[in-house]
Parts: sequence; C-alpha cells; structure tokens
Amino acid sequence: MPQYKLFVCENKEATSIAAAKSLIETVTSKPNAILGLATGGTMVPVYAHMVSDFMSHHTNYQFTHTFNLDEYINLNPLYSSESYCSFMNNHLFDKININKTNIHFPNSKDPAYYDTLIKNSGGIDVQLVGVGVNGHIGFNEPGSSIDSITRVVQLTDSTIKANSRFFGGDDNLVPKFAVSMGIQTILNARKIILVATDINKANAIKHILLNHYDPQ
Ligand code: GLP
Repeated sequence: MPQYKLFVCENKEATSIAAAKSLIETVTSKPNAILGLATGGTMVPVYAHMVSDFMSHHTNYQFTHTFNLDEYINLNPLYSSESYCSFMNNHLFDKININKTNIHFPNSKDPAYYDTLIKNSGGIDVQLVGVGVNGHIGFNEPGSSIDSITRVVQLTDSTIKANSRFFGGDDNLVPKFAVSMGIQTILNARKIILVATDINKANAIKHILLNHYDPQ
C-alpha cells in the first residue's frame, strides 16, 4: 500500500512554496525528470514560485518532460484561453526554458496512448495534483475506478458549477467532457504531491485521508 505523508503548512503561500520546492528539487537532482502537472487556481502560486526560482536561480528545464493531467474537450472558441494548455503556457511554460516538444497533453482521439507514452518515457517522477470540491482528481469524478487509465470523461454538474467561474459564471459555457489521466495513470507515478489550499476542499481531504481507496 502506498505511503503518504501529510504536511499542514501555515497558509496558502507556505503550502505553494513547499510544493514548488519539491518540484524544483526533483528537476535540480534529475534534469531529465518527468513531471506530471496540474491546473486550477491552487496551482497558480505554485507555478509563480517556480517561475521566480527560475528567474533567480536559473533552474534548468531544458531536458525536463511534462505530462499534464487533463484537458477540456470541445471548448467554446471564445474561451480558448481557458484551455489547460493556455493555462500552462501562461503560468509556467512560457516563463521557463522548457523545450516545447517535451510538453504533453492527453488527446481525446487516442486517450489510452497517453499511458503508453508516459510508460515509454520512463514513467512520471513526480505528479502534482489538486482536488476538486467533490473530490475529483484530474477529471476523475467520484466513482472513477482505481484501475482507470487515460480516457474521455463526462464532468459532473457539481464540477461544471465549480468551474463556471472561469466561464463568466455561465454553466452552459463549461465543456461537458474532458480527457483525463485515470486513477491508475496517476498512481503509477513514483511520487504524488496533492495540494489543497481552500477551505471548500476540507471535506474532500477528510474523506481521502479516512477512506484511501473509496472510489467516491
Ligand atoms: C479542475 C481540474 C483539477 C483541479 C480542480 C480544482 O477541475 N481538472 O485538476 O484539481 O479543477 O481546481 P482549483 O485549484 O481551481 O480549485
């Protein structure tokens, strides 16, 4: 059974710094590290710390490969800036010296191939994940099977509502489907850092800690 350590930091800032430091240390000790990356408001300060470290310490991402957790499908073109690819470019990739050919996102046309690609790259060294208010990880909604791999998923009403804040508050503009790494894909990582900083995640975290393998 995987071991976990719980770190309770003083505030959001300290939590974000701790997560960023762990990723930076990984890349420093293994320049060709494979990072699994996540999106969402929680990750904005994490990536901001990585960018400020890059500017002051020149951490080298030239040989680093990244695999993002998930991406929306059929995004309204008016909201293309809300794609997770745009998010990553804006918050991290355009601001560090990563080689753009080393960046990967799951593709809805052949989702399972993403797992093969990850495996062929040597596997993810560190996977960063956030958590949804309903406990979703990536876009694995409650009920996702522990052996799920990358696949097309349908978002629940509660996730659509929670993410509507990025779509002018209009649920109808939030994509209904996404392509996401599965739970198994994520668990295959050698190390996983789950970051939760908002009070509305407390319930999900409590359930995750109490019921390790509850699909809910
Ligand atoms: C989205 C992403 C998740 C992320 C979640 C929480 O649904 N697919 O990977 O964990 O949002 O985001 P936030 O950090 O904004 O609360």
